[in-house]
Amino acid sequence: IRVLAVASEVYPIVKTGGLADVVGALPAALKQYGVTTRTLVPGYPDVLKALATAETLLHWPEFYGGPIRVLGGTHDGLDLFALDAPHLYARPGNPYVGPDGRDWPDNGIRFAALSRMAAEIGQGAITSFVPDIVHAHDWQAGLAPALLHYAGQPRPGTVMTVHNLAYQGQFSPDMLTAFGLPGESYALHGVEYYGTISLLKAGLQFADRITTVSPTYAREIQSDDGGMGLGGLLRERADVLSGILNGIDISVWNPATDPDIAARFSAEQPAERAANKAALQRRFGLDPAPDAMLLGVISRLSWQKGLDLLLENIPTLLGEGIQLALLGSGDRDLQDRYAALAHDNPGRIAVVIGYDEALAHLIQAGADALAVPSRFEPCGLTQLCALRYGAVPIVANVGGLADTVLDFDEVAITGDAPTGVKFAPVTSDALAHGLRKANLLFNDKVTWRRLQQAGMATDVSWHNRAGRYAALYRELATTRR
Ligand code: ADP
Ligand code: GLC
Repeated sequence: IRVLAVASEVYPIVKTGGLADVVGALPAALKQYGVTTRTLVPGYPDVLKALATAETLLHWPEFYGGPIRVLGGTHDGLDLFALDAPHLYARPGNPYVGPDGRDWPDNGIRFAALSRMAAEIGQGAITSFVPDIVHAHDWQAGLAPALLHYAGQPRPGTVMTVHNLAYQGQFSPDMLTAFGLPGESYALHGVEYYGTISLLKAGLQFADRITTVSPTYAREIQSDDGGMGLGGLLRERADVLSGILNGIDISVWNPATDPDIAARFSAEQPAERAANKAALQRRFGLDPAPDAMLLGVISRLSWQKGLDLLLENIPTLLGEGIQLALLGSGDRDLQDRYAALAHDNPGRIAVVIGYDEALAHLIQAGADALAVPSRFEPCGLTQLCALRYGAVPIVANVGGLADTVLDFDEVAITGDAPTGVKFAPVTSDALAHGLRKANLLFNDKVTWRRLQQAGMATDVSWHNRAGRYAALYRELATTRR
């Protein structure tokens, strides 16, 4: 089976969130199931640098306002197609926003072009790789299934994966023709969304199959609340919607070989975590207290992630003698409030504002617990890394967090080995309760060791989860033949 994946980010070249991790790791895991993937990404400067020796596969003088090429090459084991369109992507920095922090005004065209190229490749524009399936990730690729729908037969099967329903890619209805859509598509059962064009809706409406990144999120987005305006559509399409859990790249996230941590360790030899905890306390300027529970956070600072609730719980942390090491960036107001609290509570609350992959690894290796108090979470990857590194996850009972962490009390009924602490509802009070419960468990060394060991024994790899995608591709390819 040949799959063309389409996305705006791919780890390790361009990343603003978990989308890049997934798009970067899934193809390697799919190989063992006989699935060959090529991933089409925009030719951002970093992508072109990574593909310096790539081959030119297409060269068109005019495509959405300028000349373009499609390059094909490999980087870090990934087979990539890059849409080299200098008028759209030759811009430094973040893929979506300019230096002023605002969305690029031509984002609609930038990602319509990406999706259109996916549709062209889907219909055979590159003779050496004609895919059976076009797999679109998030709104930036959402137009691809719609364009293929209107292109008619023969066409490849289409899969739309929602990594986050909160980002819908809405643009003015004036763009319809520029996007390459027919007039009839601007309708309730088309791309129209409250007087705008929604590129995510385009994908959800017209893809042959819809997936999202956890079974619980697949259910949540069919409700009016969780559906963020698209719940009705998703209920109508429930028969083609499924949730497939994300994995993580267990070679990048391997405490036994990790070059970014102070001391290597494993489930068999967890004692070296203590050296990482000491290193983390030093790095964050926290008191060198081996017996205080050290709580880590690695996150975008946005409403989704619920970190305002943790902020309200700083008194709980101080009262319980829990230390906090937070690494994050995003919302200005949250950044400032966390920085101020760190300033007022030296040695106990510490914050690094920024994006730092290596430091994220040290936090996973050295923190006793990792907090993920998200209001909604399609899957979440940091709790998976935490399980693998023996940092006990304390999570809101939503989305993929609900599916990947086994709560200490919850499993009393099922008999499974617990791996963490869950709290619900997602409120400041419930989080306080979760933090206190975790600290109690932490102070019972035998129980805590068991939580860590069960977490480290959990399979968080892509191995089995990729098999679900492979089965979906096969089923779709067969029904279309
Ligand atoms: P989301 O994609 O919603 O941000 P995920 O948990 O799926 O959430 O993925 C986030 C990814 O980004 C993880 O790989 C995490 O380690 C990483 N990450 C988030 N914030 C930071 C940061 N400030 N520094 C380093 N890595 C970060
Ligand atoms: C999104 C979601 C996150 C998920 C990631 C990868 O960014 O917010 O929960 O893990 O995509 O699928």
